Amino acid sequence: MTVLQGTRPRVNAGRLVEQVAGLGAIGAVPGGGVTRLAFTPGDVEGRAYVARLMEEAALAVRIDAAGNLIGHRPGAVPGAPALVLGSHIDTVPDGGAYDGAYGVLAGVEVARTLHEEGVRLNHPLAVVAFCDEEGAHGTMGMLGSHGFAGVLPPGAARVLDDRGIPVADLLAAVGGDAERLAEAAWSPRDIAAYLELHIEQGAVLERLGVPIGVVETITGRVNVSVTVDGVAGHAGTTPMEHRADALDGAARLVLAVRAIAADERVVLRATTGTCAVEPGMWNVVPGRVRLGVEFRDTSAGALEAALARLAEAAAEVAGATGTRVTVVPGARTSPVDCDADLRELIARASAEQGLPYHRLPSGAGHDAQIVARIAPVGMIFVPSRDGVSHAPGEYTAPEHLAWGADVLLTAVLMRDATPDIKR
Ligand code: GLV
Ligand code: MN
Ligand code: MN
Repeated sequence: MTVLQGTRPRVNAGRLVEQVAGLGAIGAVPGGGVTRLAFTPGDVEGRAYVARLMEEAALAVRIDAAGNLIGHRPGAVPGAPALVLGSHIDTVPDGGAYDGAYGVLAGVEVARTLHEEGVRLNHPLAVVAFCDEEGAHGTMGMLGSHGFAGVLPPGAARVLDDRGIPVADLLAAVGGDAERLAEAAWSPRDIAAYLELHIEQGAVLERLGVPIGVVETITGRVNVSVTVDGVAGHAGTTPMEHRADALDGAARLVLAVRAIAADERVVLRATTGTCAVEPGMWNVVPGRVRLGVEFRDTSAGALEAALARLAEAAAEVAGATGTRVTVVPGARTSPVDCDADLRELIARASAEQGLPYHRLPSGAGHDAQIVARIAPVGMIFVPSRDGVSHAPGEYTAPEHLAWGADVLLTAVLMRDATPDIKR
């Protein structure tokens, strides 16, 4: 595509692309993926890499109590609320180099470009790498942005991960402090706008051949723990008609979960992502199975309807298999609309850069939806090749990385020139 770009300053595209590759090398898995789970040595090394870049961008670097890495640049107007740019640098196991990392690095690159061009913004600028967006080892996910927004559930630091390690200890490993979590919270008065640049993680932009996405709504999600209790027994001697096989029940539930989205269309997405079989031996009829189920939709009502349908399916399966099925809804994030003014601002920033844009919902969750509890949020998407994400094949072309960052920079300059509404 030939693109006519305007007269605003532009980021250093080569440097940004190099840094995405540089961060992607930390935790790189032979064969192409990246495993840099939050709180691991790879995460610590990745955070040090980003902190160094923040310093090179003349940002003052700190880690808050919720483990967020924050680079700060003062503004010209005393007491003005900040423009905040952010995303995350942790990955899922065998994920990609772009999910989250791109938005953080582009935010730092925007700050560096402003510094090099000698642009003084009216507003302070903060670039944030939020802690544990992905929910490493069964932690709640978006932990850092919950702390940043002051909406962590009570006792969040005492929760154990799936290896039995308290979140407080995990936080300490990255420089956070569970005793001072309240200090990580920003007030609505502190933030003029939050902007997050991210890869689309879907195939809409690629299919349309459009380089920029203006996000309208961010999906909501609810996690559900499903436990199927049957009766363990000898695989050779327990007659088929006398079994209460927990995995038989669980298998039916996995299909029921899929059908809730795929056939019944109760909700947009339904996934069973984990399955733990106990005792887990070839020669033992399974006595207990634990499933990790997730529903997503841009409508809160649809999420509730999916939970109700799952409860019905659980009762049916229990009756048919002689098992007991327990359904416990867990972490929930509400669907969130991006701020109407910021959506228009991003659309104008794209147009000013001569870049076609398309308005679309986000099927993935983002720190932005948590920050939305205290600030207006806007999100910019760039295309993902074949729509692949949370997998080693994740890829975004260098020109798309550069154009997305240019739109972010332009949006920052435009928002900086817009008067603030008292909040
Ligand atoms: C975030 O990574 C999500 O799972 O949507
Ligand atoms: Mn992700
Ligand atoms: Mn992400």
